[in-house]
Amino acid sequence: MKKLLIRNIGMLATPLGRAAHRGAEQGNIELLRNAWVLVEEGIVTAVGAGVPDGMICAGASELDAGGRLVTPGLVDAHTHLVFGGWRQNELALKLRGVSYLEILERGGGILSTVRATRQAGEQALYERARAALDEMLSMGVTTVEAKSGYGLDWPNERKQLQVIRSLGANHAMDVAATFLGAHALPAEYKNDREGYLRLLCEEMIPAVAREGLAQFCDVFCEKGVFSKEESRRVLETGKRCGLIPKIHADEIESIGGSQLAGEVGAISAEHLIVCPQEGIAAMAKAGTVACCLPATSFYLGAAYAPARAMVDAGVPVAMASDFNPGSCPSLNLQLVMNLGCLKYRLTPEEVLTAVTLNGAAAIDMAGQIGSVEVGKQGDLVIWDAPDLNYICYRMGSNLAAAVIKRGAVVYARRSAI
Ligand code: NIG
Ligand code: FE
Repeated sequence: MKKLLIRNIGMLATPLGRAAHRGAEQGNIELLRNAWVLVEEGIVTAVGAGVPDGMICAGASELDAGGRLVTPGLVDAHTHLVFGGWRQNELALKLRGVSYLEILERGGGILSTVRATRQAGEQALYERARAALDEMLSMGVTTVEAKSGYGLDWPNERKQLQVIRSLGANHAMDVAATFLGAHALPAEYKNDREGYLRLLCEEMIPAVAREGLAQFCDVFCEKGVFSKEESRRVLETGKRCGLIPKIHADEIESIGGSQLAGEVGAISAEHLIVCPQEGIAAMAKAGTVACCLPATSFYLGAAYAPARAMVDAGVPVAMASDFNPGSCPSLNLQLVMNLGCLKYRLTPEEVLTAVTLNGAAAIDMAGQIGSVEVGKQGDLVIWDAPDLNYICYRMGSNLAAAVIKRGAVVYARRSAI
């Protein structure tokens, strides 16, 4: 039997529970000094403070945390992990003041990544995404969500989803799959919106569900992309086929996306940079997780989502990277944590919940991951840090010393443990 004892933990910091935390509860973190955690067959079976219980820990291999901080493995609940090419050419355009939506209108942006992704073979996409997952893991992330949305036709959406499925099967990381065929109108449907919506609703979404290729269905509800009513049609079709709704809402312009999230009972709404008061109220009422992406705000030079107001209004807030080649070419969730404090004005405790338990809830996994407690997966990070404040305060360095996934050490910085 595989048995791992992580001992000499200076401070164990974790939310507790199996559902998203909202309001004052979001900042409610268990802090256990001089702690130990026992993981058996990938599952946490005991957590304690002081000297580990010799009886129950007998026969376990031991990992000395060196008196450092330990938290749950981080959950990156919003990424566009699988794509061909990069878009560094857009940097010069941005610097000349061309906006994100203007670049998209000119056939660049998402559509240029669609061209590169269509050209790429499945193996090449797999290798690139695997390298990104390795890097994420080395930075403390143990579960990710990954979206399709750079194929925009069935063979290529399917190709992306198959890559996501293979990554989930072969990589240490847990990978949740989201169908985002409604990411943009593909060039060949430029003058036929209805045709593409029908392709999505009558063919692609049912096929995704039939082949079990994704658990969630997402849509980019945005001015010039998909309207509120088009988005509703996509998400309702997904629901009828058994796919849980998610929505890119209020990223650039507010056209009712966050209200729609509440109306369709979306598990999460993402971005929310320009989320109006009505959207906050709708999400609070429906229990929708607000998945905020501050590194995207940073990269777009945009405003920051009103995450503080959301927590105060009782909306469960998660934070994720949005890793993609356009609006956020970074997969650094530690930077996202810094921005959560500095730009959203969340406390380090609220930030920890946002990137663990609430991230898990955004992908319907709060029962299995997102906290260190008996019965959950043994996903943990040993940080080169004495406490929670430190990892939200230091910026730009990777502070993950060791990463444990289902009770196995999957990353250790040289000489770190
Ligand atoms: O979440 N907003 C839409 N989709 C991505 C960006 C995709 C891209 O630019 O390639 C996002 O920001
Ligand atoms: Fe996104």
